[in-house]
Amino acid sequence: MHKLPELSYSYDGLEPFIDEKTMKIHHTKHHQGYINKLNKTLQGTAFKDWELNKLLKGLEELPDKVKTSVRNNGGGHANHILFFSGMSPSSKDKPGGELLEALKDNFGGFEEFKAEFEKVAGSHFGSGWAWLVKAGNGVEVYSTRGHDSPVTNGYEPLLNLDVWEHAYYLKYQNRRGDYIENFWNIVDWDKVEQRFKKA
Ligand SMILES: [Fe+2]
Repeated sequence: MHKLPELSYSYDGLEPFIDEKTMKIHHTKHHQGYINKLNKTLQGTAFKDWELNKLLKGLEELPDKVKTSVRNNGGGHANHILFFSGMSPSSKDKPGGELLEALKDNFGGFEEFKAEFEKVAGSHFGSGWAWLVKAGNGVEVYSTRGHDSPVTNGYEPLLNLDVWEHAYYLKYQNRRGDYIENFWNIVDWDKVEQRFKKA
């Protein structure tokens, strides 16, 4: 059975950048909803004890009757774990160490990386996610549709931003750009650095 992880901060911890009501609904209704549907799909199948990463990595080999649900609900579960645990009320302005070097190598600098991420997140059509991933020896920024996971494509996710309307609509309505810009205030760069080291 897959379970909803607790947040390491309170629902109002990311105010004023993400509001308490959005966080509460996002975590207890949307994220929990994906978990419920995933568990229902896996119940009584050979995959019920598989870890999330194993399911997503092996997605294309899964039988049709579970594949679509794992893509949407398993992906939804994994992406929200990464998203919620990648934010913090007490975050630093920018990463350091090897991650900063990788961003410089790939994008020319931290500000250039941010501009690219904002462009990808802002121009993604419809529901989806913007990503910073480890790909081969470097890093890449791109977006996925729905809840598609980079893990399925062999990438290691480092940072993601939810651009489904449920992530920002209550506070920002149609102003996705403002939501994206404010995201930089709450990125937990220590966490992203750790993920980079492990990847
Ligand atoms: Fe979401």
